[in-house]
Amino acid sequence: MRMNPWRRWLTGLVLAVTGAVGSAQYAVSSQPNVVVLATGGTIAGAGASALNSATYAAAKVPVDKLLAGLPELTKVANVRGEQVFQIASESFTNEQLLTLARRVSALVKQADVDGIVVTHGTDTLEETAYFLNLVVRTSKPIVVVGSMRPGTALSADGALNLYDAVVVAASNDSAGKGVLVTMNDEIQSGRDVSKNVNIKTNAFTSQWGPLGMVVEGKNYWFRAPVKRHTGGSEFNIDEITSLAPVEIVYSYGNVPRTAFDAVGKSGIKALVHGGPGNGSVADRIVPVLRDLRAKGVHIIRSSRVADGFVLRNAEQPDDQYDWVVAHDLRPQKARILAAVALTKTNDPKELQRIFWEY
Ligand code: DGL
Repeated sequence: MRMNPWRRWLTGLVLAVTGAVGSAQYAVSSQPNVVVLATGGTIAGAGASALNSATYAAAKVPVDKLLAGLPELTKVANVRGEQVFQIASESFTNEQLLTLARRVSALVKQADVDGIVVTHGTDTLEETAYFLNLVVRTSKPIVVVGSMRPGTALSADGALNLYDAVVVAASNDSAGKGVLVTMNDEIQSGRDVSKNVNIKTNAFTSQWGPLGMVVEGKNYWFRAPVKRHTGGSEFNIDEITSLAPVEIVYSYGNVPRTAFDAVGKSGIKALVHGGPGNGSVADRIVPVLRDLRAKGVHIIRSSRVADGFVLRNAEQPDDQYDWVVAHDLRPQKARILAAVALTKTNDPKELQRIFWEY
């Protein structure tokens, strides 16, 4: 999002007068300033040959090399990179989520930063995008991007995905739409999007559809999010010191209580039940979950089914059991929201409100 021309001119004047222009992180120009925060993943991956589109090492290429490989970016924005992590995203921890969000929050407060791009492994990209969507108080564009193929592969998708992410992050019309994800020419909501194919470049989709597309450096918008996010969120990373342990247990035919018992003893504050269908709970598991609830653990009923949403009091008497339903959030996103919500409340009715609103 561009600073207004007068402010930019004044900034330039101040920098020139104080002689700081030489050390300014950006040449003062009419272009937006975008910071790329790199965390690793396949977009920073490298394979042994151009034919290795699925066999490669993730998290190898440093952010400055990624940016140097995209000279076209200079026509879009003043871009600089920071290497926050260099990891495969399946290894992300809550602490790393907090560290990343704090860095994003600090940068968006800077007048000389107009947008943020986060490069990220695709495995947990949807979780990080949703987390940032919940806790970073800003209307400036934040775009999370990854790739399904390493840059060394034939038809690598990372370069265009990254270019598109910078275009979206540098665009005024991206402001106020929550955290966004650019993959495969589409602009997805960080809340809605999930990785639904583990080996194709069209991996990221949402059951509610993309918000728009970015084609040849131009955004085409068709929808805007209605759930609360970023500037409209009641959560603020600047006030969050830690995330409560919230774990997921999937359910299936013949499911034993073993995993529920083990996780229930680990000190969790909430358990996300990834049930079949509309979040169904096996009759032998109901007493196990009710016992956990009686011990103060919140039960969040989600579904292992990709699309649709869990209805309250449909498959289970949630009112009677004092359980929460995850609405349309899949277990991995329900875990993120539950952990964030528990930084504010331990009231199940408040938790349910939060699941309806976010
Ligand atoms: N290890 C996976 C990750 O970092 C690679 C998948 C990818 O980034 O596309 O998420």
